[in-house]
Amino acid sequence: MTISKEQLITWLDNTAGVMQEKREYLTELDAAIGDADHGINMDRGFSKVKEKLPTVADKDLGTIFKTVGMTLMSSVGGASGPLYGTFFMKAGMALMGKEALAAEDFLTFVENGVGGILQRGRAEVGDKTMYDVWAPVLEGIKGGVEAGKTAPELSADAVVVAEKALEGTIPLQAKKGRASYLGERSIGHQDPGATSSTLMLKALLNVIA
Ligand SMILES: Nc1ncnc2c1ncn2[C@@H]1O[C@H](COP(=O)(O)OP(=O)(O)OP(=O)(O)O)[C@@H](O)[C@H]1O
Ligand SMILES: [Mg+2]
Repeated sequence: MTISKEQLITWLDNTAGVMQEKREYLTELDAAIGDADHGINMDRGFSKVKEKLPTVADKDLGTIFKTVGMTLMSSVGGASGPLYGTFFMKAGMALMGKEALAAEDFLTFVENGVGGILQRGRAEVGDKTMYDVWAPVLEGIKGGVEAGKTAPELSADAVVVAEKALEGTIPLQAKKGRASYLGERSIGHQDPGATSSTLMLKALLNVIA
């Protein structure tokens, strides 16, 4: 069982809707430990992605993801634009010519995307960033592929892992980005970027399930 290109386009399209719907929520989270722009950033970025998608819908997944990455990079400022932008650009580069994602391709997608986040942000687990969600999600997918799970099964597992990891960002003290300036005052708040990453994974599961 694979994830089709049509499902992935619907995912990206739906993600724009989710970011619009959760704009205030994400911005409130960022107001507590950042500069109150994360919802605005994600909504702006994905609404541009939604606009761009029809122009590349007939292309391969590599081209589609690279376009998503470049669009996020050019339309979103701050930390999250380059981070999510690099995620999709790196993931796209590794999936050139693909028309669907089998289990191994889903691993390639996440592995290369997360590699992009690391290359850009140099975060470690426990720094209270989106990487706190992506690190265990990637580990889970690796294990799932070894266990012979399908791409939709991997996606379902990823949501469970992400939700737990997201909750795990609450007691952490931020070590990266603007939130780190708050020192111990960043403790007790859920990380905005980890939240948007979890929302993206949930949106993916929604189109597959
Ligand atoms: N070095 C990093 N590596 C990974 N993720 C990061 C890093 N720095 C920030 N983030 C993520 O970006 C989110 C903030 O994104 P936002 O859209 O608000 O951009 P920003 O206001 O420029 O960010 P910041 O104030 O954190 O520099 C954080 O919640 C965190 O998850
Ligand atoms: Mg911010």
